[in-house]
Formats: sequence, structure tokens, C-alpha cells
Amino acid sequence: MKSLLALTTAMGAAHASSLVDICTDAYIKAALPAEDTFQGISMISGSVSTVLHSNVSISSSNFFPTATISYCDVTFNYTHIGRNDRVALTYWLPAPADFQNRFLTTGGEAYEINEGSGTSGSLPGGVMYGAVSGLTDGGFNGQSFDDVFLLANDTVDWQNTFMFGYQGIHEMMEIGRELTRNVYNTGEDKVYTYYQSCSEGGREGWSQAQRYGFDYDGIIVGAPAFRFAHQQINHLVPNVVTQTMNYYPPPCELEVIVNATIAACDPLDGRADGVIARSDLCKLHFNLTSLIGAPYYCAASSGGSGLGLGFSKRQSMGATPAQNGTVTAEAVQLVQTLLAGLKDSQGRQAYLYYQPGADFDDVETTYDSQTDSWSLSIDGNGGEFVARFLNLQDVSSLSSLDNVTYDTIRDWMQLGWTMYEDTLMTHNPDLSVLQQAGGKILHFHGEQDPSVPTASSVHYYEAVRKIMFPNETLNTSAAALGEFYRLYLVPGMAHCGTNSEQPNGPFPQTNMAVMIDWVENGVVPVTLNSTVLQGDNEGEHQQICAWPLRPLWSNNGTTMNCVFDQASYDTWIYDFDAYKLPLY
Ligand SMILES: *[C@@H]1O[C@H](CO)[C@@H](O)[C@H](O)[C@H]1NC(C)=O
Ligand SMILES: *[C@@H]1O[C@H](CO)[C@@H](O)[C@H](O)[C@H]1NC(C)=O
Ligand SMILES: *[C@@H]1O[C@H](CO)[C@@H](O)[C@H](O)[C@H]1NC(C)=O
Ligand SMILES: *[C@@H]1O[C@H](CO)[C@@H](O)[C@H](O)[C@H]1NC(C)=O
Ligand SMILES: *[C@@H]1O[C@H](CO)[C@@H](O)[C@H](O)[C@H]1NC(C)=O
Ligand SMILES: *[C@@H]1O[C@H](CO)[C@@H](O)[C@H](O)[C@H]1NC(C)=O
Ligand SMILES: *[C@@H]1O[C@H](CO)[C@@H](O)[C@H](O)[C@H]1NC(C)=O
Ligand SMILES: *[C@@H]1O[C@H](CO)[C@@H](O)[C@H](O)[C@H]1NC(C)=O
Ligand SMILES: *[C@@H]1O[C@H](CO)[C@@H](O)[C@H](O)[C@H]1NC(C)=O
Ligand SMILES: *[C@@H]1O[C@H](CO)[C@@H](O)[C@H](O)[C@H]1NC(C)=O
Ligand SMILES: *[C@@H]1O[C@H](CO)[C@@H](O)[C@H](O)[C@H]1NC(C)=O
Repeated sequence: MKSLLALTTAMGAAHASSLVDICTDAYIKAALPAEDTFQGISMISGSVSTVLHSNVSISSSNFFPTATISYCDVTFNYTHIGRNDRVALTYWLPAPADFQNRFLTTGGEAYEINEGSGTSGSLPGGVMYGAVSGLTDGGFNGQSFDDVFLLANDTVDWQNTFMFGYQGIHEMMEIGRELTRNVYNTGEDKVYTYYQSCSEGGREGWSQAQRYGFDYDGIIVGAPAFRFAHQQINHLVPNVVTQTMNYYPPPCELEVIVNATIAACDPLDGRADGVIARSDLCKLHFNLTSLIGAPYYCAASSGGSGLGLGFSKRQSMGATPAQNGTVTAEAVQLVQTLLAGLKDSQGRQAYLYYQPGADFDDVETTYDSQTDSWSLSIDGNGGEFVARFLNLQDVSSLSSLDNVTYDTIRDWMQLGWTMYEDTLMTHNPDLSVLQQAGGKILHFHGEQDPSVPTASSVHYYEAVRKIMFPNETLNTSAAALGEFYRLYLVPGMAHCGTNSEQPNGPFPQTNMAVMIDWVENGVVPVTLNSTVLQGDNEGEHQQICAWPLRPLWSNNGTTMNCVFDQASYDTWIYDFDAYKLPLY
């Protein structure tokens, strides 16, 4: 409980009216949350620093449009009492005249807990809407979480793991919201509390929704890397499939399969624009076997990053020779095995995969110029997770996948699930607290994400629906859920970004404005506002359907309707019967 006394004590400073007035170390020090406001947390008042930025031009990003903003960049540290640690916070404060009683919480990507404090990070996306916007370093002193996860080989730093799992973001939000109240002297007025981030930041958003539902008015989560153990270890599945089949495709062979899939499946949604909006119809109607024998050619490349590399990826591709051949039956079988999702040796479903049309970034192979052949390459994300987070060794990846089978992968997933159920898994489907507090969740995911499977988001949505509205029909429960939690699959979209191979796809760039409208004005985003950000159709507005409805164009691709189709719906539904417990 925040006492009125704490508030008035902190408000010793005079009533401020301009950015210059509030942007001083002394003013911010006086506005810090009073001691004992938050359990176990103490501000380090001597660490406060302020820098005023006027009329800064912000370039358009995937998650916000262009803008010019002025703000006070405030940084300070706090400590956990008794731990003698330092957690560094950054808040951007809009001018009092621009402040609209909003606070935006932001998270990170990959193993970062924030997106950086530059103008290309996440903070402008709040300031331009009159929100104080904050980020935390989690106490990691500028390092990535994976670099501070182990204290030594075999010894986990659980405090850092809890901070990354959910605690760090929440503390930053609580401290920032209290600071906001004090700086702008909001009195009894509500400060609307938002969250917005993608990928790992999407997982962090869910960590807040699942644990602190009473604390947020609106949470925007993109392509969440939740069900973390499965998510990370799943990156190894393509490697193990190639090893099991003893077939290592040249990258060009997979690229031509992606191209042919896009060409064949683009029009199934009723609009021929080079964008797959219905990967479910692609699954139902596109016959991959028909590609056997199709020619492919790729020129030699000196390396660099591959096509469409997702934004949580760390690997880049080495030099590759010219590749000229025809699609083999093995390559088609490899792709069909992947699209079916991981199954153990008894045929039981252990996880799921990306949608057809998405890149095969994880299926990298390595070229050996001595033998002029392609061989196993171990995916860095998956290899690191097993080596560091399961084996607890301070190494960057696995050195081999010898003897690793589908059952090994399943067992690793089970082990990671058990080890990180309460920190990183982030898949609790009970959102009752958030629902009762009136919070809203806008969850979106690229239909063509090559790094976090789109169906992973659908699986969670379906788990929430069934846990919260048992005994109800799909229509009734989806309608009830849609009052506070809506999921949108974005046609053609890659991992938290536009897709260079499907440039005409729409992107939900105005999510923050949409969420504000939902929370503060009661405007339900029945469909999600979006814009084409590149390519021939740049600037075109589109609406994205809310799951379980799916887009279908008519009138020669000029009219879009959101429809329900049982056969398409069924392609998204998985029963993970490889495990004894239900996997939400
Ligand atoms: C604040 O924390 C950061 C990160 O740990 C540290 O580099 C900095 O020295 C701290 N500043 C003060 C004044 O304690
Ligand atoms: C920022 O822009 C506004 C409007 O153009 C102008 O009035 C103001 O002087 C500018 N501030 C600074 C510090 O340049
Ligand atoms: C796949 O399509 C892209 C254009 O999107 C093209 O640049 C590339 O060469 C094609 N790849 C192959 C193997 O045909
Ligand atoms: C898929 O295509 C192959 C080769 O063109 C053909 O033999 C097979 O019957 C097709 N399968 C289906 C289900 O249409
Ligand atoms: C690929 O190989 C075939 C058969 O050797 C040849 O006819 C064709 O010209 C080659 N294509 C390219 C682009 O080199
Ligand atoms: C930790 O273990 C790895 C091998 O698992 C080893 O390469 C590394 O040297 C060890 N680090 C230390 C500090 O002992
Ligand atoms: C793989 O299995 C073979 C045969 O059981 C065994 O000889 C070898 O040591 C195993 N390799 C690893 C890395 O466990
Ligand atoms: C669902 O149906 C079962 C069996 O009819 C019943 O026992 C249970 O109370 C129902 N649950 C809810 C939440 O209505
Ligand atoms: C469920 O809703 C969809 C689309 O809104 C509609 O087409 C369908 O008929 C409904 N099903 C039932 C059983 O009411
Ligand atoms: C929808 O997006 C367009 C730009 O594509 C923007 O102009 C409009 O304000 C957005 N509407 C809402 C409600 O955010
Ligand atoms: C259908 O749309 C395509 C692409 O926009 C256009 O080229 C074609 O002329 C249209 N066909 C008709 C019958 O309007």
C-alpha cells in the first residue's frame, strides 16, 4: 500500500510546470518513492542523474510512427535490502504539458532485459503518447542475462534468474509509476499502466499478466518466447531431423521450397499479393511432394546474414558456394517432418513448428569445402540453452549432437520445464486476476515467424480459453475471452518484424494507440489496425482478424472478411501427449 504520507513527503518540491522545472537531479530526488514504499527495496538517491532532450526526431519503427519528442532522461539505481546489489533504471519523462497520466513498461529481446536507452529502443513509443516510459537493467550491470545466469560452472544465480523471469520488470514498473505520481503530482488521478514489447519482451509481458494482473491496464505482447524451455530447445529439432535422416540440404534447396510455398499459398486467402495470410489453408491444400525435381540455383555468397533472420537470432551465415540442383525427395520429407512438429519415438506430440512459408533459419547446414558437401550445424539458441541452462556449463553451445534423438529432445524439454516452471516458462493460463481487475491484453504474432512458432501463441490462447471458460462452446468462450484478451495473427509477418520475402504484408504499428483507445475509451479492437510498411503497397491500411477468425478476401482481393473455418482451425490445435502433465 502506498500511503498518502509517503506521497506528500516526496512532494516537497514546488509544483512544476515545464520540462526544465522537473528535469533536475534535486527535483527527481525529492520525487523518488519514499523508503518502505516497496517491500525490500531501497532507492540510492545519490545515483540520480537527469538530462533534458528537446525536440528529438524519432524515426518510424515497427512499433511506433515518426514523431518529435522532448523528454527528461532520468537514471538512478536501487538496491534489494540485504543483498547489496545495484539495479539501474532509466525513465523518460514527457513535459508536464504533454503528460497524459500514462506509464509505459518495456522489456527486451533475446537474453536482453531491455531494448536500450537510445532513440531506436522502446522508450519513444511511450513518450510520444504522453507516457512516462521505463526500462531496467535487471541488476545485470549492462550484461545479457545468459552471461550472468551462472555464478560458476554448475551454480545458478537464481536471483538473476528471478529478476529476468518477472521480478525486474515489475519492480521497474512499480518504482516508475510511483515516481510518475510524485513528479506530476497526480494526486488521486489514475495513472494508466501499460506494457509493450516483443519476443523475449513478449514473454516478459506475459510474466506480468500472469503474476501481476491487478497492476496493468493494458499489456501489448508480440510473438512471446514463452514456454521458454520448449521454445529454446525446439531450435535444435531441425538439426536432429537432418541428423536422423542423414540428409543435410544445401540452403538454396530450402530457399526454393520457401519461395515455391509462398507462390502456391499466397492466393489461397483470396488475394494474390505475395503474402501468406492463411498458412492453415497452405497446410491443407499445398502438396509439397509436387516440388520434387524443381530446379534451384543460388550464386556463391561471401556470407553475412541469411534471409529473414529473426531478431532473437545470434548466428550469421558463413560463405557459401554456388548451389545448383533439383529439389530432392529427402528435402521434402525433411520439411514435412518439421512442419508436423516434434514427435517422440512412439509418435506422441512433444512440440510444434513454424507455419509453411516461414524461413528455415534453424535448418542451417555447414559447407565443407574439402569434401564439397553439407553437414550438421548446431543452432546457437538451442545449443546454448541445453549447454548453459540444462547442463549448467559456462559455454556458448553444445559441441556435438551425437546420439541425440527425438526422445532426447523431448526429455530435455521436460527437464527444462521442471527446472524453470516458476521463472522462465511463463505459461500459466489462469488470467482471472487480470480479468477481474479490468486489464486488457493485445497479443499478436507473425503468421510467418521463423523463430517463435505462431502456433505456440495459439496453443496458449486455447489453453487460457479452456481453463477460464470450461464447458462453453468455442464461440461463447472466445467472445467472453475477447472482452479482455485478444490474439491477432499478422499475415506474412516474420519475427517481431516485417518480412523481406513477403513485403506487402501489413504490420500493426499503432498498437499503443489501439490499446489506449481500448483501455481509456472502451473501443474494442474487433480487428487490429495495421499498415503495409514496405513494398508496392506501402501505406495501405489493413485490418487483422482476431483468432479464431481467419482472413478471407473476396471480390478479386478487394474485400476482406474474418471467417471461421473448422478444418483450418483444427490445423492449429495440438495435444502434447508426449508428457504426463498438460503443457499449457
Ligand atoms: C548505478 O548502477 C550502475 C549499474 O550497476 C553502475 O554502473 C553505476 O556505477 C551505479 N551508480 C551509482 C551512483 O551507484
Ligand atoms: C521545440 O520546438 C518548439 C516548436 O517548434 C519550439 O517552440 C521550441 O522552442 C523548441 N525547443 C527547443 C529547445 O528547441
Ligand atoms: C527466392 O525469392 C527471392 C525473392 O523473394 C529471390 O531473391 C531468391 O533468389 C529466390 N531464391 C531461389 C532459390 O530461387
Ligand atoms: C502430391 O503430388 C505428388 C506428385 O505430384 C502426387 O503423386 C501425389 O498424389 C500428390 N498428393 C496429393 C495428396 O495430392
Ligand atoms: C545448373 O546446372 C545445369 C546442369 O548442369 C546447367 O544446365 C545450368 O546452366 C546450371 N545453371 C546455372 C545458373 O549455372
Ligand atoms: C566450465 O566448464 C567448461 C566445460 O564444460 C570449461 O570449458 C570451462 O573452462 C569451465 N570454466 C571454468 C571457469 O572452470
Ligand atoms: C554414442 O553412442 C555410441 C554407441 O552407444 C557410444 O559409443 C558413444 O560414446 C556415444 N557418444 C556420445 C557422445 O555419447
Ligand atoms: C463443467 O461441467 C462439469 C461436468 O458437467 C461440472 O462438474 C463443472 O462444475 C462445470 N464447470 C463450470 C465452471 O461450470
Ligand atoms: C460461431 O461463430 C462463427 C463466426 O462468428 C459462425 O460462423 C458460426 O456459425 C458460429 N458457430 C456456432 C455453433 O454458433
Ligand atoms: C490506424 O493506423 C493508421 C496508420 O496506418 C493511423 O493513421 C490511425 O491513427 C490508426 N488508428 C488507430 C485507432 O490507432
Ligand atoms: C484482379 O486484381 C488483379 C491484381 O490487382 C488485377 O490485375 C486484375 O485485373 C483484377 N481482375 C479483375 C477481373 O478485376
